[in-house]
Amino acid sequence: GVVPLNPGVMPSWHVLRYADVQKVLLSPELFSSNRALQGEGELAEANLSFLFNNMISATGDKHRRLRMIGNRVFMPKFIESFRPALAQVVAAQMARALQGHEFDLVEEFSAQITVAMITRVLGLPLADMPQIRRWTAVLGDNSGASTWLAALDPEMVERGRLTGLEMTAYFREYLRERQANPREGDLISAFASVEVEGERLSESEVLSMVMLLLLAGNETTTNLITNFVRLLDAFPEQAARLRADPELTNPAVEETIRLRNSIRNIDRFALEDVELSGVTIPKGGLVVVWLSAANRDPSVFEAPDAFRPDRTANRHLGFGLGMHMCLGAALARMEVQLAARAILEQTALVELTAPPVVAQNANFDNITRQMARF
Ligand code: HEM
Repeated sequence: GVVPLNPGVMPSWHVLRYADVQKVLLSPELFSSNRALQGEGELAEANLSFLFNNMISATGDKHRRLRMIGNRVFMPKFIESFRPALAQVVAAQMARALQGHEFDLVEEFSAQITVAMITRVLGLPLADMPQIRRWTAVLGDNSGASTWLAALDPEMVERGRLTGLEMTAYFREYLRERQANPREGDLISAFASVEVEGERLSESEVLSMVMLLLLAGNETTTNLITNFVRLLDAFPEQAARLRADPELTNPAVEETIRLRNSIRNIDRFALEDVELSGVTIPKGGLVVVWLSAANRDPSVFEAPDAFRPDRTANRHLGFGLGMHMCLGAALARMEVQLAARAILEQTALVELTAPPVVAQNANFDNITRQMARF
């Protein structure tokens, strides 16, 4: 149910059951996502507070306005317009991977696909891809810095801060260039020009939005592609079944999100004393919402630890729930589905040639290296 923990930095309450997770995420008036409530100082800095002046952290009317703009930009037609480019990127990465050599599935496959996509979606120069990859890798480590598990590593905090400053400068310059020379079809231009209720986003709001998309969308999707391959390796019978019936690709991707999602947990803060499953969480308490536990709740999912691509009514919570539910879910699905389908159609076997290297990270399943052979 609900487990209080008080190990490292800050006492916290851990929500594990599907029904409790639903309750927390559907009650924003009791459980806030506003990270400013986390307090000043080290914690706020480690979480790059200037980056968290964004949609996930926003509540009430501020969130409603940002989300309306996000929804208007992230229309299905906009996402679909990137499908041909994505198919090309996946084909090119497959061709490299199929040469028979051992390769790093994370850096030389999954990340190449997701960085190529976000670069195109944002309309950035393709030559900047290596830099964008470096930034997202650092921020991926940093944003999962343990708010509740352990003390923070000051070097990591400093690396995150410098990366944030570098990114802000880069995107500010780029945004000003786009405003002087507007274009069609990329997200930065769209966010800079979209109007809701007669108002545009301010420059700092556009910057926060763009950096949030990089942060929220990149490491997550990279890890999910990697995790799909890891599941093929862990469940060879299901892998054979999927190769025989690639129509099961999309349900298999949903099952990957359920069983081995890249986001394990998300944070909320209790706005008042609140009782959940018999435990009282005090006002201000940090509530850690375990999506990965809810997604294996045996009262909701039969054989919860099994990888069952043909699972019916797979109502996983991998993209969250309620008003902050993932804005980029359709884009993430398109990327992972295309990559998964290419792997199933073009490989007879995927072989993991070494154990994964996993970064110590409380919130994400952050795999930094996974040697493999196709
Ligand atoms: C929110 C998961 C990919 C953009 C969320 C949340 C989850 C999530 C769990 C809810 C956070 C909360 O309630 O505190 C994932 C996973 C992904 C993925 C597992 C990949 C497999 C993406 C992509 C983008 C994106 C590709 C955009 C390019 C966002 C945004 C929010 C969000 C903007 C905040 C929405 C709001 O606050 O209203 N995501 N995400 N995500 N995600 Fe994703």
